[in-house]
Amino acid sequence: MKFTKKDFLWGGATAANQIEGAWNVDGKTPVSTDIQPFTEMKDRTKVSAFNAVTREDVKKALSDTEHYYPKRYGNDHYNRYKEDIKLLAEAGMNIYRMSISWARIFPNGDDAKPNQKGIDFYRNIFNECHKHNMKIMVTMVHFDFPIAIGDKFGDWTNRKFIDLYMRYVETLFTEFGQDVDYWLPFNEMNVGLLVGHMQSGIYENEYKNPFSAKFQALHHQFVSVAKCVELSKKMKIKGTVGCMIAMITLYPYDCHPDNILAWYKEKQMLQDFFFDVLTTGEYKTYTKDMFKKFGASAPIVEKGDAEFIKNNSIEFITFSYYMSNVVKVTDGAADKTGGNLFGGTKNPFLEANEWGWQIDPVGLRYTLNNMWDKYQLPMLISENGLGFVEKMKDENDVIQDDYRISYLNDHFKAIQGAIDDGVDVFGYTMWGPIDLVSAGTSEFSKRYGLVYVDYDDYGKGTGNRYPKKSYKWFQDFMKTKELK
Ligand code: BG6
Repeated sequence: MKFTKKDFLWGGATAANQIEGAWNVDGKTPVSTDIQPFTEMKDRTKVSAFNAVTREDVKKALSDTEHYYPKRYGNDHYNRYKEDIKLLAEAGMNIYRMSISWARIFPNGDDAKPNQKGIDFYRNIFNECHKHNMKIMVTMVHFDFPIAIGDKFGDWTNRKFIDLYMRYVETLFTEFGQDVDYWLPFNEMNVGLLVGHMQSGIYENEYKNPFSAKFQALHHQFVSVAKCVELSKKMKIKGTVGCMIAMITLYPYDCHPDNILAWYKEKQMLQDFFFDVLTTGEYKTYTKDMFKKFGASAPIVEKGDAEFIKNNSIEFITFSYYMSNVVKVTDGAADKTGGNLFGGTKNPFLEANEWGWQIDPVGLRYTLNNMWDKYQLPMLISENGLGFVEKMKDENDVIQDDYRISYLNDHFKAIQGAIDDGVDVFGYTMWGPIDLVSAGTSEFSKRYGLVYVDYDDYGKGTGNRYPKKSYKWFQDFMKTKELK
């Protein structure tokens, strides 16, 4: 079959904290992900870098000389960005999704002036993209909460963060407003429910109910997203502003009413809540139950917030989609499986990778339909891909990643299916087209790339880039748009 949609955007997605390295170079200060060490793992479904951290953990990690912290070094993109962008362009990609590190622009949060070296770095990247005729999507915060900002101003439960963040946003809009096509204020906002520190700076042990803190932080981020929309219009920048969640596509285990009800409530909490607030400004009735579930208090919403969010609603929707999960609350044995946020019950109809992420292209078509019916906003799938352990034997070896080719092929077919259903999908950026550090486990061995990078979990290797079989497959697909 052929992928028929014209002017569709095809690209790759990355995040500063997983690729750049240079964690303390040219003025950049440490961020929340720089303190996540690599841990040897036997069962890959059970390890997570997304643990609650304490102030003490941060202090220890910053003076630790024993462990290796992969996100400090990424895949050395800071020094290799020209080669990387050329590889993406030569694969045929016409959009690049990347993130800017707040700590590279305002290393101390309230610096009198932005850090010129940080601005220059991103300008160079954008120039490379323009040279190769690639559009640009920028995530302004992708899991990398600046530690120095936290030390001075606390965390996102403090409403003052909206101003701090907007100063950063205004700087980016001023510097890059004519370069960037799409802006995402935050990566996967719903991850904020699971981990407090990584994106919101919350030390969970310092709160009586960490969930109350996380909901409050999220509220301030919702208001910030609307402020980004407002500012983008005021400053007449070229790009539009959308937002993103991690799509946890869920199915009820069976037609037992208890499983249906539990599935519905979990879906409201993990998916609906975020785009419902961002498009209407409202905390719908179901949120009461959601706060209750966590024994959390509802966030303090200032007068005018709801109206403001509604009047400055996001212009497009993006989500990451890797897998689907199953909800089961009824008694009886069922295997469990892993997942990027919350694991779930195993779906007997699906295969999974080593991390237990269940492969489900049809779920993508279902999800796109569901999101379109609910919000009627144009959509881009901002992450998707298959993590796999791979090892090149020698310099001339080419990784034969047929499993990745078939994963991509099937997901592209699902997108075409949704387009045929009448859904407005305008683009797709695959996760980690050049191997990078895993967000969830901090390992390098979980490779998503079309391009292999010669680093191991401890950063040993040349860092050289080697296209895999899937690179050539993608190149051909971009020319023919043929799918199997
Ligand atoms: C998304 C994140 O949750 O999933 C990325 O936005 C992340 O940062 C990606 O890398 C894949 O997850 P992981 O844990 O396999 O790296």
